Amino acid sequence: MKEQLEAIRKSALESINSTEAGAELESLRVKYLGKKGELTAVLKQMGSLSAEMRPVMGQMANDVRAAVETAIEKQSAILQEKALEAKLEAETVDVTIPGKKLEIGHKHPMYTVLDEIKAIFIGLGFEILDGPEVELDDYNFTKLNTPEDHPAREWSDTFYLNENGKILLRTQTSNMQIRAMETRPLPIRMISPGRVYRKDEVDATHSPMFHQIEGMVIDKGITMGDLKGTLNAVIRQIYGENTVTRFRPHHFPFTEPSCEMDIQCHKCGGVGCPTCKGEGWIEVLGAGMVHPKVLRNCGIDPDVYSGFAFGMGLERLVLGRFKISDMRLVFENDVRFLNQF
Ligand code: DAH
Repeated sequence: MKEQLEAIRKSALESINSTEAGAELESLRVKYLGKKGELTAVLKQMGSLSAEMRPVMGQMANDVRAAVETAIEKQSAILQEKALEAKLEAETVDVTIPGKKLEIGHKHPMYTVLDEIKAIFIGLGFEILDGPEVELDDYNFTKLNTPEDHPAREWSDTFYLNENGKILLRTQTSNMQIRAMETRPLPIRMISPGRVYRKDEVDATHSPMFHQIEGMVIDKGITMGDLKGTLNAVIRQIYGENTVTRFRPHHFPFTEPSCEMDIQCHKCGGVGCPTCKGEGWIEVLGAGMVHPKVLRNCGIDPDVYSGFAFGMGLERLVLGRFKISDMRLVFENDVRFLNQF
């Protein structure tokens, strides 16, 4: 039995001291000290020993157990130390590796143009209002004097969000005329840029979502002369000091009289070319004197106050400015395309 115990001690210590991993150490503990382990197997033979030998062998078995346990603990500490060293080694920072270059973005071309336009209007004393894209039909149509049978109200043209047709995605930023008049003290000078939605198929010049900039001035004694003067000043800041403009009569339900503003084609100087589709003129916005009914709908007395309003499409300005031929490019947000602006 003595030899058996000695053999166990020798083989256990040898294998423990040469282990490389914690899991291996654990299986050695089971192999030697476990319930079905080698040491236990030897101890089971104790019954066959003489009374004098039993304590001697018992003592020896305990010594072997203690030695094996100590060896396992020592080896475990060594392995942990090694693992820590390896981890530290792996995590060292190599300060000589060149840094990663951070790509710095820039303004989207839509915002470049929008910010310029905002700056022009702020310079003229306008405030900038933000408005809801999910809107009541009251604000998008009814209070803007849009007849019940107006084609823009068709379910095929407008995204309605409930079945009774009372809630919709706004089709124009003109809703902000009403919201401004209902909430702002007079006089009002405001622009309100934002997204609008229409059921249009996507192509080079159409998108079911696009951007408009609404503008409105309400004060005592505002005339068509103020409309023309203000819009001429703005358009010349956008398109250049020598831009030639014209105002054409038009119809909008919420303005009377109404007009569209054109600029003379800067490409051909008014002769006619592909850019202006042979017209010599390019339409830039719709405008007009705020309809007395609209003023009254917002609790403003049209005999005391008058005003003008206008709405322009932002995409058209952006495509023209950056010579982009397809609106989809502006919305796809492929950085390889946007990088060039
Ligand atoms: N809301 C019009 C549209 O979407 C644009 C417009 C025209 C706005 C005339 C106005 C205006 O404020 O006076 O086509």
